[in-house]
Amino acid sequence: MKYVIGVDLGTSSVKVLLVDQNGNICASVSKDYPLIQIRPGYSEQDPEQWVQKTIQALKQLTTESNVSVEDIEGLSFSGQMHGLVLLDEHFHIIRNAILWNDTRTTSQCRKIDQQLGGKLLEITKNPALEGFTLPKILWIKENEPENLQKTRFFLLPKDYLRFRLTGAIGMDYSDAAGTLLLDIVNKSWSTDILRIFEIPEHICPPLVETEDMVGTILPEVAFESGLSPATKVFAGGADNACGAIGAGILSEGKALCSIGTSGVFLSYEKDSTKNFGGKVHLFNHGQKNSYYTMGVTLAAGYSLAWFKNTFAKDESFTSLLEEAALSPIGAGGLIFTPFLVGERTPYTDAKVRGTFTGIDSSHTKRDFTRAVLEGIVFSINESVEIFRNYGKTIDKVISIGGGAKSDLWLQIQADVFNAKVIKLQNEQGPGMGAAMIAASGLEWFPSLKKCADAFIQEAKVYEPIPENAARYQAFYQVYKDVYPRTVAINHQLFDLKNTR
Ligand code: XUL
Repeated sequence: MKYVIGVDLGTSSVKVLLVDQNGNICASVSKDYPLIQIRPGYSEQDPEQWVQKTIQALKQLTTESNVSVEDIEGLSFSGQMHGLVLLDEHFHIIRNAILWNDTRTTSQCRKIDQQLGGKLLEITKNPALEGFTLPKILWIKENEPENLQKTRFFLLPKDYLRFRLTGAIGMDYSDAAGTLLLDIVNKSWSTDILRIFEIPEHICPPLVETEDMVGTILPEVAFESGLSPATKVFAGGADNACGAIGAGILSEGKALCSIGTSGVFLSYEKDSTKNFGGKVHLFNHGQKNSYYTMGVTLAAGYSLAWFKNTFAKDESFTSLLEEAALSPIGAGGLIFTPFLVGERTPYTDAKVRGTFTGIDSSHTKRDFTRAVLEGIVFSINESVEIFRNYGKTIDKVISIGGGAKSDLWLQIQADVFNAKVIKLQNEQGPGMGAAMIAASGLEWFPSLKKCADAFIQEAKVYEPIPENAARYQAFYQVYKDVYPRTVAINHQLFDLKNTR
């Protein structure tokens, strides 16, 4: 039997998956690393941690799995998007990476709007958002000019990891699309945008396709990780593109809900012509010459993890969710807005913060947990609504990530989206997409789609229950009112907190 490895470089951990030629998961190992948050709104990580934790995870995988490493033929990556990694001329890291959920760059975004106007949407198909890479580069230019001067290449997180494993510098289109520097239709760095912001073109790495073979494992990494130096390495893609691949979102009409640290609602697009007015993102897919559109809730699983760590540290997620199932729909009139780090779709507001609304003395922890689960899905439903308003039919949704691990949460998704929600067998999120990229790159299959047909099976369908859907609709309307009615107060609090 032959094998591939999918490496998913996430925000809170790296997960490595060993997958055989039939799509079975033979082993998986995950290793955590921390966020570095030195000021409100800042979110950084040390890229060296990604490398060390990945090598440790690979070592454990190769040691514990009992397969001959010569049979592990290929490896590929999925990565958290948009994070800025700066390398100097010796390819050493200049500073910590600034991550996708860092929101310090509001003024840089407004500058991009002023200087580019409609040109930005024309070239990149996306608006200027704090999480994207160009505003981070401009922040460095304004606040740490010496670091930009030293920069030989900027990379995204998984591209840096790939570089350390293979020695090859590059960035694939699906991740480059999230930089706001890519002309996503012509698949080239936008010389216009680079010129307007006086960013030297040489800092942009060579562009590659997700399925391109970029090298093999460096001898020293092979020694440390236990992998064979002959293992072929394929470029890989953005986590959302890989989540889509791993869930078989590879043709028109397919939609995905992914609840990881962030929450994403994503729909396949065969070309880039659909106009959603910049309200949802449009990125290159990991499947060559196709695209996907998506809306993002910044703190999805992150909200639940925050809630558990703050109020139920010693309890397991399983017992928390079991208890939440005993709370009624609408959590007994308690609504949570998951704006812990600001919000992306539909508000693009880095300063807004979360709320619990409607607290009364009858509420217990179970109601709060349920309100958190529901609030996350309400927020993702705001993206679903945008798709529907622009004429997309959303009647079947594949659910992946933490949100697909609980019956309760899956049923909440079906009822709130008012659509069938599918749970997959052996669902492994973006890591599976990364393994499939290696499997298809190795030509085990003629295409990613054929690989998906072989690897992905549906496990269960959650049908919307009409009376629940109607009840949720009523709570959702109230949820949507919370933002406009509390935004001014939240901005005031944000400013007060940050000015002393
Ligand atoms: C997408 C985004 C997040 C990250 C999470 O635009 O910012 O989904 O990719 O890793």
